[in-house]
Amino acid sequence: MVTTLPTPEPEVLRPGIKAPVQETLLTPRFYTTDFEAVAKMSLSLQDTELQAVLEELRNDYNRHHFVRDDEFKQCWEHIDGETRRAFIDFLERSCTSEFSGFLLFKELSRQLKGRNPVLSEAFGLLARDEARHAGFLNKAMADFGLTLDLSLLTKQRTYTFFPPEWVIYTVYLSEKIGYWRYILVYRHLEQHPEYRIYPLFRYFESWCQDENRHGDFFKALLRSQPKLWNNWKSRLWARFFLLTVFVTHSLTVFERASFYHSIGIDPRDYNTKVIRNTNETSIRAFPEVLDTDNPAFFSRLEKCAEANERLTQINASTSPKIVKFFQKIPPIASIGWNMLRIYLAKPINAEALREVVR
Ligand SMILES: [Fe+2]
Ligand SMILES: [Fe+2]
Repeated sequence: MVTTLPTPEPEVLRPGIKAPVQETLLTPRFYTTDFEAVAKMSLSLQDTELQAVLEELRNDYNRHHFVRDDEFKQCWEHIDGETRRAFIDFLERSCTSEFSGFLLFKELSRQLKGRNPVLSEAFGLLARDEARHAGFLNKAMADFGLTLDLSLLTKQRTYTFFPPEWVIYTVYLSEKIGYWRYILVYRHLEQHPEYRIYPLFRYFESWCQDENRHGDFFKALLRSQPKLWNNWKSRLWARFFLLTVFVTHSLTVFERASFYHSIGIDPRDYNTKVIRNTNETSIRAFPEVLDTDNPAFFSRLEKCAEANERLTQINASTSPKIVKFFQKIPPIASIGWNMLRIYLAKPINAEALREVVR
């Protein structure tokens, strides 16, 4: 059973500007990559698919979507206490990860200009969407008296280097999991409007279509590079990234259970649905996916979430450092062991299903 700790009070940098959350394994990261290698990628295998996605991105279906309507013009003081803290935390994580996407895509577009026109244009269009998403979320934060200083965030955050192959696997997954996260919240609130505490959620339906298109672009990119799906190494990487994305998702959802409760969502049910759907969607792009029907799959993910809660409690305690060090060994070992067991469980061969799922 996962027990949730209360969300800490938001830290303020200066009046109205929220201090970025401390970087941990769970906070959204900022990435950089080998631009030279991306510029040299041959796309011929997926030329038709990439042109089709590019056309979709050019259509810019959501150009009039991110406009705040009258429902935003009211006081939000009635959302208070734990709900308010958890909601601000949700907005901040979402805003940071959208903004992280924007920075990476913008830089890719800039670096590939004149060298790989198809990719440069596509990344430019992706950056356009992510800038809108991040901006819209930051305005929502302003409704709660806080905003993120995005230019400061750009300068202060450390950038993690990922080779292009890792970028393609992880961004594909984060776009598709983003799609499922948004659409499942949207569908739930459509059925239970009494929980729609804030108008932002009404925007999720068209919003998640952006994420879906971004994911389709990365799918075409992934399939254009045979080394990302036609050998044993690619199968191991695919499972590794699925596992890390799913563990991170589970840990974050259980850690912020109070937010989901506040909008009438059962965190366990939500986590299961998001992961099942994302894993199934990934069959279209990845050479192998995890078997979410394995009876131990979700219980192992939840054991990781429980161990993570234990780590948070230890970190928050006043015990001496050396005591904390020894206290942390069992929960870290538990996360490692449960992840390893999921990783080594029999996977699903997506290539064998390829003809069926196309
Ligand atoms: Fe986005
Ligand atoms: Fe996206």
